[in-house]
Amino acid sequence: MAIERLVEPTMAENDKEEERIEISLRPVTFREYIGQEHLKNNLKLAINAVKKRSDGSTLDHVLLYGPPGLGKTTMAGVIAHELGTNLRVTSGPAIERAGDLASILTNLKDGDVLFIDEIHRLRRVVEEILYSAMEDYKLDIVIGKGPAARSVRLDLPHFTVIGATTRTGSLAGPLRDRFGIIHRLEYYKEPEIEQIINRTAKILNTEIHPEATQLLATRSRLTPRIANRLFKRVRDYADVNGDGIIDHQTAKKSLELMEIDALGLDPADRNMLQLMYDNYGDRPVGLTTIAALTGDETTTIEDFYEPYLLQLGLLARTPKGRLVTEKGRKHLQSIQNKI
Ligand SMILES: Nc1ncnc2c1ncn2[C@@H]1O[C@H](COP(=O)(O)OP(=O)(O)OP(=O)(O)O)[C@@H](O)[C@H]1O
Ligand SMILES: [Mg+2]
Repeated sequence: MAIERLVEPTMAENDKEEERIEISLRPVTFREYIGQEHLKNNLKLAINAVKKRSDGSTLDHVLLYGPPGLGKTTMAGVIAHELGTNLRVTSGPAIERAGDLASILTNLKDGDVLFIDEIHRLRRVVEEILYSAMEDYKLDIVIGKGPAARSVRLDLPHFTVIGATTRTGSLAGPLRDRFGIIHRLEYYKEPEIEQIINRTAKILNTEIHPEATQLLATRSRLTPRIANRLFKRVRDYADVNGDGIIDHQTAKKSLELMEIDALGLDPADRNMLQLMYDNYGDRPVGLTTIAALTGDETTTIEDFYEPYLLQLGLLARTPKGRLVTEKGRKHLQSIQNKI
C-alpha cells in the first residue's frame, strides 16, 4: 500500500524517529503498563508462583494475540523484567533456517524469555524444531549429510517462549498446544487511553489540557500506538502554531487537518465503507471483492481495517461476507452532511 496512514496501527517501517520514541515510551513494569487488567492479573499470579518455587521451574510459554499496536511486544518486555530475566527478541520471518533457531536456543540461559513476534509466520521446518524445544527443552539436530548423517539430541536451558501474533487462526494446532497461557489483548477503554496519553505527555515534557486528552482518546481507535502517534502530531502542531501547549482547540484543529473523524476513522476507512455501500448496499461482500474495490491486499483489510470497524459495529461479518451495518451507513451520512 502506497499511502501512509496515520492511523495505521502497525509501526511505520524505517521510521527511526517513531521507533526511538516508541522505545522511550514503552512501559517496563506491570505498574506502568496501563489496562489489560485481566491479562496482567493472570501473569502476575503465574510469575509470583514461579518466583516462589526454587526448583528451577520457569514460566509457562505465553501466546499473546490481538490487533497490532495493543502492546504485545511491550508486554513481553514487562514479563521478562518482572521475572528478572533476559529478553531475547526475534520474529517468525527472521528465523529462516532450522540452524538459525538452533543457535538462538543454544545461546539462551536458564529462565530467559524468548520473544517470537509474528509467530504465525514461522517456517514449517523451524516450527517442528520448536515443538520439542518448548515441550521438553531438547533440540534434535541432524549433523552431517547423506549416509554419514546422524541425529543428536541436545539439552537446552529452561526458557519461556512468548509468541505474538495478530491472528491465532493461522497458527498450527500443535504449536498452539505448546502454550500454557494463551491470551487475547483487548482494545483499551477510553479512560485507559487517556491515561496513556497523559503518561506520554509527561515523558515528553508537554502540557496537555484534560479536554484535549479526552478528544485525542476518542480518536485513537482504542489503540496505544495510535494514541501516541496522534499525540506526537498534535504536539508538532502546537509547537508550530502556538505556544506548545495542547489545548482543546489545538487538538481539534490538528485532527481536522489529519482528516480523522469523530470515531477515529481516516479517509481510507471511510473510503472502504463507502465503496462497499455504493456497490453493494447492505448486502454482504466477499473479502476478495472488497480488496479489489480498495486496491488493498486481503490481509491488509483483515488485519488493519476490519478489526476496529467490527469492534465499533460499523461493519459486520456474516457467513456470506462483510456488510456495512446501519450504524456504518449512518456514520458515512453524518460525515457527508458535514462536508
Ligand atoms: N498498556 C500500555 N500502556 C502504555 N503504553 C502502551 C501500552 N501498550 C502499548 N503501549 C505503547 O504503544 C506502543 C506500541 O505497543 P507494542 O509495540 O507493544 O504493540 P504490539 O502489540 O507489539 O504491536 P505489533 O502487533 O505491531 O507488534 C508502545 O511503544 C508503547 O509505548
Ligand atoms: Mg509488536
